[in-house]
Amino acid sequence: MTSSEIRKRFLDFFQKKRHTILPSASLIPENDPTVLFNTAGMQPLAPYLLGQDHPQGKRLANIQKCLRTNDIDEVGDNTHLTFFEMMGNWSLGDYFKKEAIEWSFELLTSKEEGFGLDARRICVTCFEGNDNAQKDKESAEIWREIFRKNNIKGERIYFLPAEKNWWSPGENGPCGPDTEMFYDLTGKLTDGMTKEEFLKADQEQKMVEIWNDVFMEYIQKDGKVIGKLEKKNVDTGSGLERITTVVQGKESIFDTDLFAPVMDLMAKANNTLRNKRIIADHLRASVFLIADGVLPSNTDRGYILRRLIRRAIVNTTDKQLDEGRITKFVGTIVEGYKEFYPGLKDKE
Ligand code: SER
Repeated sequence: MTSSEIRKRFLDFFQKKRHTILPSASLIPENDPTVLFNTAGMQPLAPYLLGQDHPQGKRLANIQKCLRTNDIDEVGDNTHLTFFEMMGNWSLGDYFKKEAIEWSFELLTSKEEGFGLDARRICVTCFEGNDNAQKDKESAEIWREIFRKNNIKGERIYFLPAEKNWWSPGENGPCGPDTEMFYDLTGKLTDGMTKEEFLKADQEQKMVEIWNDVFMEYIQKDGKVIGKLEKKNVDTGSGLERITTVVQGKESIFDTDLFAPVMDLMAKANNTLRNKRIIADHLRASVFLIADGVLPSNTDRGYILRRLIRRAIVNTTDKQLDEGRITKFVGTIVEGYKEFYPGLKDKE
């Protein structure tokens, strides 16, 4: 299945479940001065998650361009990126845990309408509770029932603390417990695992997080929950690149069809694999940033862009990849994305 087919299946699935499909917002936040970039699909929807009525209804879905620089030092491994596409669905005071979790599972595993993943390779985590909110037994029970109905055996539901299973866009704003879905990249962990085994497999990147369902029913200020939101919302996010990796049976994000054309340009170059991956990630991020109107400078967004370009150049240790040549990668990146993001071609 190509990444284009994955995007289409995601959007078609939620459209059938009566969600309005929204276009991706710009990488530059429109109404939030506290962040430089949209780092999650929920960010452009923050006012609506806080209670404002959305003109398009209570069920929304989209694929949002995101940029996160907090993982920049991890880029080059199998799973981390700066720029990525986040597939997400939202309920604004409409459905809650049961539907959200059941639909995530259905889309991940359905062969006909979904991604056709092997349910035996899925494990999940739930919130273990703290002073802010109680243990999320309800989500765990929904998962238990799904695994039981599908005859999936073994221990595969783990309770973890807030550092792992509580999500908020920052210190302030809508937040809540989440349940995260992980997929076994090795294909050998199908019988379930103890919690210790799971944590080890996660650390070794044998299990990779592929979807996060956040149940936003609280609001926090300075990191402390100060009350409940008017409505209970659902905010989910699934990285297209990671889903593509597992659907295509690859070991790393950079082996998928999303990166293959750019990685191929470097096939003969004498750089390390890590160098090549950093170049591919950073140039792709730079292309999307420039298309959304950012230009290199020495402050704020422009500085991030300058840093990405500089890091890409610094990694071009082989003469075959000198500066002059890597600028030519832009055309290849635009070519790969122009269908889903027509604006890129205009800005080429
Ligand atoms: N906002 C959550 C996240 O970024 C779910 O989309 O993980």
